[in-house]
Amino acid sequence: MEPTIRVDGLSKRFRIYHQRSETLKEVLVDRRRSRFEEFWAVNDISLEINEGETFGIIGANGSGKSTLLKCVAGILVPDRGKVSVKGRMASLLEVGAGFHPDYSGRENIYLNGAILGLPRRYINSVIDEIVGFAELEQFIDNPVRNYSSGMYTRLGFSIAIHMDPDVLLIDEVLAVGDEAFQRRCMDHIESMRREGRTLLFVSHAADTVRKLCDRCLWIEHGSQRLAGDTDTVVDGYIGEVNRRELEALQASASELGGSEPGWMGVRLGSVEFAGSDGEVNSVTTGGELTVRIAYESPSAIRGARFRVSFYPAGQAVLLSVQTDDGDLGDRLLPAAGTVTLSVPSAPFLDGVYGTKVEIEDIASGRSYVEIDRPQSFRVQGAGRHEVGMALVGHHWEVPSLDPTSVNV
Ligand SMILES: Nc1ncnc2c1ncn2[C@@H]1O[C@H](COP(=O)(O)OP(=O)(O)OP(=O)(O)O)[C@@H](O)[C@H]1O
Ligand SMILES: [Mg+2]
Repeated sequence: MEPTIRVDGLSKRFRIYHQRSETLKEVLVDRRRSRFEEFWAVNDISLEINEGETFGIIGANGSGKSTLLKCVAGILVPDRGKVSVKGRMASLLEVGAGFHPDYSGRENIYLNGAILGLPRRYINSVIDEIVGFAELEQFIDNPVRNYSSGMYTRLGFSIAIHMDPDVLLIDEVLAVGDEAFQRRCMDHIESMRREGRTLLFVSHAADTVRKLCDRCLWIEHGSQRLAGDTDTVVDGYIGEVNRRELEALQASASELGGSEPGWMGVRLGSVEFAGSDGEVNSVTTGGELTVRIAYESPSAIRGARFRVSFYPAGQAVLLSVQTDDGDLGDRLLPAAGTVTLSVPSAPFLDGVYGTKVEIEDIASGRSYVEIDRPQSFRVQGAGRHEVGMALVGHHWEVPSLDPTSVNV
């Protein structure tokens, strides 16, 4: 059977213009030198998507996902290769694309219907549902130029799904909607899948892609990097993102020289995070984490407390631990040394964690020195299915029915 979407050796080229300030002489002399370069935003991509399949496209910013989708939608003409699509196609490609800013939401619904070749009486029969799904009852007669980006997206998505499409193309945009709207979109997309419609889906949300897509394509610099089973492709992509991030973290770790001297000249030297296999800045959920904190002081220090705080990317502190005051209250510490914090089972889920390291005087509570985010470390979830930031020990009890006791 013919696939619903077939993309064959598709390539799309764009020009990058150089903005050079030139003198008249340069312009005259250099006349023939081109003022732009060409590059392939999509390079030799082939795909076959069958009826009823949900297909995902993933890749870094600028890798060519939207360009590919626009070629499939017929908005861009490919420079090489072919695209064929069977059936009625609706698309949601960019926030506000396909809307006339001066028309009201209602007028835009009719306009979109007309573009897709749907009779006016069909639109009449679904317009209340479109407006209702978008929850735009109050605003539907206002010009869409006054809509927020979330409102644009709601209207665009609602129109697209109510146009009875056989094929639906969605480019990321859903991320603009609020949580409640996104959930309703996901539910709706699920029901469209069940009805056997074909979906082509670009998203940066790995979880969404895993949940929705039967198969996936990962593109990198316009070319196919990996295609096939969703989990394999998403794992490959995430693995690569993690590897790059870790390399960057490790490169910056080697440049760290500790803090400036603080109160009483106490300073922090290197702060090192290591996972169970000793790998720097890379920790596995539930695995060992060791933090080594080197400090220096002009003389011995009496009664100092050490504290390490962990911050998930961009968030408030998740966990802060400190040395035991009773134990250290009167202890004399050597002028230079290393304090080691061992966490036998790191409670952190997949992500990047920043840290803050502090040394303070127990008696007065005064801070000797602190460094905020001396460096970050990467936690690999290693295929765990918990969601969130912290892992807690847990177990489930699930009832089980003895099959022999069931009357079928
Ligand atoms: N009309 C255009 N003219 C020139 N260059 C363009 C045009 N549209 C896209 N590009 C370039 O093509 C490349 C691919 O862009 P594209 O929008 O397809 O990326 P993307 O994978 O969708 O990225 P993102 O994840 O940020 O949405 C980028 O380098 C972009 O700058
Ligand atoms: Mg894009």
